[in-house]
Amino acid sequence: MVYVRNAFLMKDCVPSRLTEAIAIDEMRHMNWLGDLIVKKGGVPVMEHKELDFGSEDLKGYLQKQYDLENDAVKRYQEQVDLIGESDAETVGTLKHILDEEKRHRKEFRLQLETKTIDKFDQLPFHSYFCIFYACSVSKS
Ligand SMILES: [Fe+2]
Ligand SMILES: [Fe+2]
Repeated sequence: MVYVRNAFLMKDCVPSRLTEAIAIDEMRHMNWLGDLIVKKGGVPVMEHKELDFGSEDLKGYLQKQYDLENDAVKRYQEQVDLIGESDAETVGTLKHILDEEKRHRKEFRLQLETKTIDKFDQLPFHSYFCIFYACSVSKS
């Protein structure tokens, strides 16, 4: 929710499209976790804590998003450590998500440090292509 909203408000194309692409990753995470919860007999809750979008400028949004990814990395790592060998399926899903959260954190950190396009070399190709193409078209 934070990323979707912030992506609308970012005037710079590259961080906006990057934030949008990462919001889509987060939606996939929710789907994977929801499927896992239901498969194990649970019911996903949809309650949400109050949203904090960061201070209202590009740097504020990126800093908040970096902090959210950093918190997510810590939380998923704690869960992986806690579950350990007792549930390989859940740990496999959590590790996959953890890897993506680390990448997200890195992307937002790189955006905070510099906004040059050549810093996107760590993105999966499809994300890089979408951002590069979308931002090239928007300039013409
Ligand atoms: Fe996530
Ligand atoms: Fe993330």
